[in-house]
Amino acid sequence: MSLFPADPAISPATPAALRELIESRRAVRRFTAEAVPDEVVRDCLELAVLAPNSCNLQPWSFQVIRDPALLARLHPVCMSQNAAKAPLIIAVLARPDTWKQACQNIIDYWPEPDVPARIRRFYNKTAPFQYNQGPFGLFGLFKRQLLRVAAWRKPLMRAPNSQAQMRIWAVKSTALAAQNLMLAFQSHGYATCPMEGFDEVRLRKTLSIPRQALPIMLLAVGKQDEKGVYNPRLRFPLEQHVTWL
Ligand SMILES: Cc1cc2nc3c(=O)[nH]c(=O)nc-3n(C[C@H](O)[C@H](O)[C@H](O)COP(=O)(O)O)c2cc1C
Repeated sequence: MSLFPADPAISPATPAALRELIESRRAVRRFTAEAVPDEVVRDCLELAVLAPNSCNLQPWSFQVIRDPALLARLHPVCMSQNAAKAPLIIAVLARPDTWKQACQNIIDYWPEPDVPARIRRFYNKTAPFQYNQGPFGLFGLFKRQLLRVAAWRKPLMRAPNSQAQMRIWAVKSTALAAQNLMLAFQSHGYATCPMEGFDEVRLRKTLSIPRQALPIMLLAVGKQDEKGVYNPRLRFPLEQHVTWL
């Protein structure tokens, strides 16, 4: 995997280039039949997983669907919408259930010969305390009660301390990866459409999605066809959304 120079102050993209890339991405609903090469998909996935993510626990997974027979089965699951006729669909899954393995992965894949003691401590003790909610979320309930008292004295992180908060926790990071993925495809000249218009129950069955994984969106990918963009770009005035303090 290629990595940018370690100094985050050195930006490899100019503001104009980034603006052009972001502005050129649109939700595209019509694709040609041209296949997306696996090398392009791989490159884009490598960029997707460079997204910032909570505690670097990388709570996501991706199913890359290229098989025409499976794509044909997915189409009705996606309410038969046009975008789901794409030659490639990537199921983007949030994984609130993989944190334990991820803590171990951090130690196993640490990119230096020695894992610093503070890293070991964090991923062996602090993170498991934070993310373990126990059977039926009971440990989370206990932590919430503990917090009510402990947080009188000093500011403390209040979440995630339930199964529901774990789902939000995983979705936040996974959505950032999905955006990276769309921009990466855009940079390769492939259009995308994020889709939440699907029957989740049927989707889970069709793709054998693990019970605790959350399909946050399906990403249709391909070469844009004629009339692929349905409407002109529309965004509300920035002032409606921004408060300057
Ligand atoms: C989470 C999410 C779900 C979406 N689901 C669908 C969908 O099921 N079908 C569709 O045609 N577009 C879908 N879209 C695309 C949006 O309609 C589109 O991004 C929005 O209208 C803005 O247009 P733009 O992306 O071209 O700027 C979805 C977008 C997001 C972020």
